[in-house]
Amino acid sequence: MELLSELLGDYGSRPLSEPPAWPSDVSDDHTPVEFSIAYNESEPPALRILAEALGSTPGVRANALATYEFLRRQSQRFGLSTSRLDAVRDLFDAENPQGDFVLWISLVFRSGRAPEFKVYFNPELSGAEQAPDVVRRALDRLGLGPAYEKMLSQAIRPAELGRRDRLTFFALDLHDGPQARVKLYISHHDARAEDVARASSVVDGVDPELVAGFCEQAGRTPLFTGRPLVGSFTITQGADRPNGYSVYVPIRSYVTDDQEALERVLPLLDRYRFDPAVLDKAIAAVTSRTLDSDAGLIAHVSLRLGPPRPGMTVYLSSEAYRGVSLNV
Ligand code: TRP
Repeated sequence: MELLSELLGDYGSRPLSEPPAWPSDVSDDHTPVEFSIAYNESEPPALRILAEALGSTPGVRANALATYEFLRRQSQRFGLSTSRLDAVRDLFDAENPQGDFVLWISLVFRSGRAPEFKVYFNPELSGAEQAPDVVRRALDRLGLGPAYEKMLSQAIRPAELGRRDRLTFFALDLHDGPQARVKLYISHHDARAEDVARASSVVDGVDPELVAGFCEQAGRTPLFTGRPLVGSFTITQGADRPNGYSVYVPIRSYVTDDQEALERVLPLLDRYRFDPAVLDKAIAAVTSRTLDSDAGLIAHVSLRLGPPRPGMTVYLSSEAYRGVSLNV
């Protein structure tokens, strides 16, 4: 609660009857916060919060500066390591950044441990066509160039880089442990389950059939023409190839309502032996609306394969601005 209210700053007390101060793309209704429940094979579920800090006059660049300021304040308290962030920060800066954001942050609350922090950069801040170069330079600086070449050669549909396969997020863990990761996200527009399955096959030990099956069960569509399927590659510091893969299905685009979304998510949780009661509790905590009245509460569902923590994540929109966002 404390971290969240610090992150929201003065905006935390802004009445929800007023329109959002900034049309954040963190969630559909522009609430700058999204919750997720990360189920893990090896430990209890974690609560995560994806958020966008807002500058006093909100704007893409001002918001990024507010995030840096927030991190600076947390740095000592939580012993954050920003050396990798500092090494690439200038690559993700521009006077007039394009797109909806430059820098988002996530807070990870694992059972019985201090919060962890992760940042997300927008590689398309100088345009989609520049993104591959921005990412290459960032990974080179972190000594991870070889892993990138390996990934790009297979993960992208031919001729689609910067078009329908877009490099949309570049994420860093803010710690120095042996598990510190870079994650590179690719949004596959108008893709089929088999396209992401092929992308996932870059990673040793990942079963592409499992990835395809997950997309099919969550999306129930041959072609994902709504919101894009997203895949992410995990590169652990020092590795010469990606060693983890996650797929994110924007399930809200492919259901009539959240009841239908839940009815697809429950068998998936069951299949991976995760406790549905945790999700029920989380849903009850964020909303009192009936699930069949709308879609959008269950925003994404993802499958994580490979180290450090295989599992499934369910993303819940706070829907704080539900119903008022049309006024923006
Ligand atoms: N709201 C954006 C989207 O749906 C960004 C986002 C938030 C996102 N949480 C996510 C993207 C989880 C992929 C996975 O694209």
